[in-house]
Amino acid sequence: MENIYVSSSLFVILCIATFTIQLANATVPAIYIFGDSIVDVGTNTYIPGSTARANFPFNGVDFAHSRPTGRFSNGLNSADFLAKLMGFKRSPQPYLFLVSLQSSLKRRKHRGANFASGGAGLLDTTNEARKVVSLTKQIQQFFTVYNNRVAVLGSDATKKMLSKSLFFVSVGSNDIFVYFSTNNTMPPVLYITHLMHQYEAYIKTLYNFGARKFGIIGVPPIGCCPARRVYNATGGCLEGMNNFARAFHFALDTLMRKISSELPEMKYSLGNTHELIINVIQNPSHFNLKDVETACCGAGRLNAEIPCNVTSNLCVNRKEYLFWDMCHPTQTASQLVAVTLYDGPPRFVTPINFHQLADDN
Ligand SMILES: *[C@@H]1O[C@H](CO)[C@@H](O)[C@H](O)[C@H]1NC(C)=O
Ligand SMILES: *[C@@H]1O[C@H](CO)[C@@H](O)[C@H](O)[C@H]1NC(C)=O
Ligand SMILES: *[C@@H]1O[C@H](CO)[C@@H](O)[C@H](O)[C@H]1NC(C)=O
Repeated sequence: MENIYVSSSLFVILCIATFTIQLANATVPAIYIFGDSIVDVGTNTYIPGSTARANFPFNGVDFAHSRPTGRFSNGLNSADFLAKLMGFKRSPQPYLFLVSLQSSLKRRKHRGANFASGGAGLLDTTNEARKVVSLTKQIQQFFTVYNNRVAVLGSDATKKMLSKSLFFVSVGSNDIFVYFSTNNTMPPVLYITHLMHQYEAYIKTLYNFGARKFGIIGVPPIGCCPARRVYNATGGCLEGMNNFARAFHFALDTLMRKISSELPEMKYSLGNTHELIINVIQNPSHFNLKDVETACCGAGRLNAEIPCNVTSNLCVNRKEYLFWDMCHPTQTASQLVAVTLYDGPPRFVTPINFHQLADDN
């Protein structure tokens, strides 16, 4: 009963927030986005030889002219919807695109950058062979942006601007996938502890640069991806992987409390995408979804044995699907996640939501 109540009220929130997307003005000076494919808006397209790309059809099928943009989605992703909810017209461009433009980082007008790279993890070794930008490298790239801001604005104004800006991070899933795919024998608790040490170092480095507001996107129930369900005879979620992802979330929750008690000016908001997506999978109709198990674009069992490309099967009613491909959400699901992070209740985002984080002075 409680599930149903919460999801209905969430649905109301979704409708209201979708409406307000059109109305707001930017509430923060800039947004900086770090992490993986959930928030990558085309980074890997700019990496020669990267094999973790989505810059070909049917990706982007729901954009004007069905244009693939490098997003792992039929359309927009959560980074785009979060930026819109914060009052921006569109989400910041990939850093690797910005640096490719003459002097673009030196312009006075600046609304942030997106460093996220599909396949990236907390560990430098995660998907290294696929040529992705690890978190370590993403933060080095932020350092370049920082230096350019200081050159344009001076260090006091940069400090002030960054303290009001939002820093979104979505990372961890790929490290867990790699743990399973390489049959890592390290005990899960130790591996998670190792990942948390990395996470802590990244947050503290950003804080030392002047970041104060962190919007942390947790790891979803990755065992429910169509590509993982394929390994379960019933098509159900892989419970072992979900338990791992849940343990990661609790460790991250503990870590964020600890870091915020150590860093006096830090504010954060942690999204429990695990809880949210499980709720969606259990009550699809409350979110106007019909299919929460198969991939919209792909081939084979659950349409998830082969990555999405132009020769794949493509579903027609994309608004009714939770999953776009083997393991990425549709535009509809990405919007649902972003709206919940922005305006959702403590069950899904703590200790404050992204809206409160943005408004907090
Ligand atoms: C991991 O274990 C599975 C099942 O035992 C096996 O099929 C696979 O080849 C192993 N993978 C690696 C990278 O060792
Ligand atoms: C497969 O899915 C079922 C639910 O359909 C679940 O009970 C079972 O634990 C899953 N198996 C694995 C190996 O996770
Ligand atoms: C699409 O994917 C299939 C299966 O991975 C592959 O055989 C085929 O070459 C790909 N087609 C294109 C146009 O990339």
